[in-house]
Amino acid sequence: MIRIAFAGKGGSGKSTISGSFARLLARRDRPVLAVDSDPLPGMAYSLGIAVTDRPTPDDVVVEGPDGGPRWILRPGLDAGQFISDYATRGPDGVRYLQFGNSWGHWSTLQRGQHAWSQVVREMDPTAWNVIGDLPGGTRQAMFGWAKYADVLALVVEPTPKSIQVAKRLRNITKADWAPEHVVVVANRVTDGDDIHRIQQALDRPLIGAIPDDAAIAAADKRAVAPLDEGPGPFADAVERLVEEVESTYDAES
Ligand SMILES: Nc1ncnc2c1ncn2[C@@H]1O[C@H](COP(=O)(O)OP(=O)(O)O)[C@@H](O)[C@H]1O
Ligand SMILES: [Mg+2]
Repeated sequence: MIRIAFAGKGGSGKSTISGSFARLLARRDRPVLAVDSDPLPGMAYSLGIAVTDRPTPDDVVVEGPDGGPRWILRPGLDAGQFISDYATRGPDGVRYLQFGNSWGHWSTLQRGQHAWSQVVREMDPTAWNVIGDLPGGTRQAMFGWAKYADVLALVVEPTPKSIQVAKRLRNITKADWAPEHVVVVANRVTDGDDIHRIQQALDRPLIGAIPDDAAIAAADKRAVAPLDEGPGPFADAVERLVEEVESTYDAES
């Protein structure tokens, strides 16, 4: 099973790449669970899922025990059942778990976030390939929100600001919690020079280089998912990224 989370600066392309990655992996007949821990559901757009979809009722959780989490899954509802009942069905068979947003009103956001965390923590790791999209910046990754991942992929544009955020994230390997592999995906590159600059700045394996593809940015304005825009340099590059991850980071279970 592949368990990978995408992190990086806001706007670096995490959602665009992770959503497309999840769909291309699912086309290879793998069970894919896309887990979005950004309360702003960027990954839903890139998967091609209607963001108004609200399949999860508030009563999935009950108040937790004293001294425990505020909300826990209601008795009789375990992580596997939650996924089969409530994870949104997306294109190519991808299932999608959103961090809170699907619950609608802000006052219920907290319940949804607790449910999300419990499901991701307790799910059967042999049942799903897990593709994660983290919010921009360093906070969530630093505090262990991507514990489900064996691979943390830093999405980096060839700009000093984007490289700086990735450098901070790279240091996560020094924290108590760290994914087994920290790797780099260069995004919106236009030439070899861009790739070289990113590689030099971040001494971690470069597992993919995604070109700047004007059709993708244009599709985004029309709320069209990258893969629904059809074939092109972006889709080709993400396909190669999937191949690279499958050949190198496919865990035993
Ligand atoms: N390789 C690419 N080529 C062209 N546009 C891209 C590419 N990657 C991302 N974009 C565009 O950049 C913007 C930000 O991407 P997004 O995935 O939402 O970033 P993040 O999730 O990291 O905040 C979007 O408009 C998206 O269409
Ligand atoms: Mg995003």
